[in-house]
Amino acid sequence: MTTTMRKLVLSAALALALPTGTALAAGGAGHVEDFSFSFEGPFGSYDTMQLQRGLQVYTEICAACHGLKQVPLRTLSDEAGPAIPENQVRAYAAQLEIFDPELDDFRPRVPTDHFPESQLPNAPDLSLMAKARAGFHGPYGLGLNQLFRGIGGPEYIASLLIGYTGEEKEEAGTVLYENTAFPGGWISMAPPLYGDDVVYADGHSTELEHIAQDVSAFLMWAAEPKLAARKAAGFQGVLFLSVLAVLLYLTNKRIWAPVKRRAKQTPAE
Ligand code: HEC
Repeated sequence: MTTTMRKLVLSAALALALPTGTALAAGGAGHVEDFSFSFEGPFGSYDTMQLQRGLQVYTEICAACHGLKQVPLRTLSDEAGPAIPENQVRAYAAQLEIFDPELDDFRPRVPTDHFPESQLPNAPDLSLMAKARAGFHGPYGLGLNQLFRGIGGPEYIASLLIGYTGEEKEEAGTVLYENTAFPGGWISMAPPLYGDDVVYADGHSTELEHIAQDVSAFLMWAAEPKLAARKAAGFQGVLFLSVLAVLLYLTNKRIWAPVKRRAKQTPAE
C-alpha cells in the first residue's frame, strides 16, 4: 500500500468511526431517571407548593455552596412561580447580606437585588443549570428522545442528587464520589441530600427522592421563570394557525368551485 492509499483508508475508517464515537459519548452520559414533573407537556405549569419546598431546600442546603446570581429575589413573588407574598420576600432578602460599593459596607439585600453568588468557588452557579444540562440524549445523538421527553435538565439534577452509590476515592488531593447520573461517574460534590434533610411546613414527604425533585423543580423555575407564559403563547399560536388553515381551505374551495363545476360539465374537453 502506498502512503496516499494508506492515508485514504485511514481517513475513511476515521470518518466511519466518528458517528460511533459520538454515539458512545452520548451513551457515556450517566443514567437519568424520567421523573414526571407538573410543568411537563404542552399545558404543564409549575406547582407553587413544590417551588416553595424547593426554595427551602435550596436555601437550607445548596446555598451553602451554590449561588443563583442571575435570579432577582423579587421574582419569588411571581404568581406563576413560588408566589411568595411580597413582605415575606422582603424578609427573605433581608437575611442575605450584600456588599454595597456605594456604602463601602455590607447591607441587607432588598427584593430588587439578586440571589447571592456561589459561596464555594468551585461550586457552579445554579441559575441556568436546569437548562445547561441535558438529561436525555440519543438514540445515537439524534436528539429524538429530547424531542419527545424534553431536554431533561431537572430530571438530570434530580437523578444526580439521588445517584450516589456511596463509593469514594481520592484523586490529586480531591475526594470524588461515585454517582450514576454524573457523566464520567465521579463528582467532587459530596452527597448534599440523604432524605429527611428538611422539615416541610406543608407536611409533604421528605424522602430523598421527593426532596430531590422539589429542588430540581425550583431550579427549573429559576432557569425558566416564564415557562407557562411561553407555553400559553405557543398554544395560542397553534390555535390561530389551525383556524387560519380551516379558513384557507374553505376559501380555496370556494374560489375554485366554479372552475371545477365547469370542468365536470364538459368532461370531453
Ligand atoms: C458542600 C458544597 C456543596 C453543596 C452543599 C451542594 N453542592 Fe452541588 N456542587 C458542589 C461542587 C463542588 C460541584 C462541582 C462538582 C464537580 O464538577 O465535580 C457541584 C456541582 C453541582 C451540580 C452540577 C453537576 C454537573 O453536571 O456539572 C449541580 C446540578 C449541583 N451541584 C446541585 C446541587 C444541589 C441541588 C444542591 C442542594 C441540594 C447542592 N448541589 C449542594 C458543591 C456543593
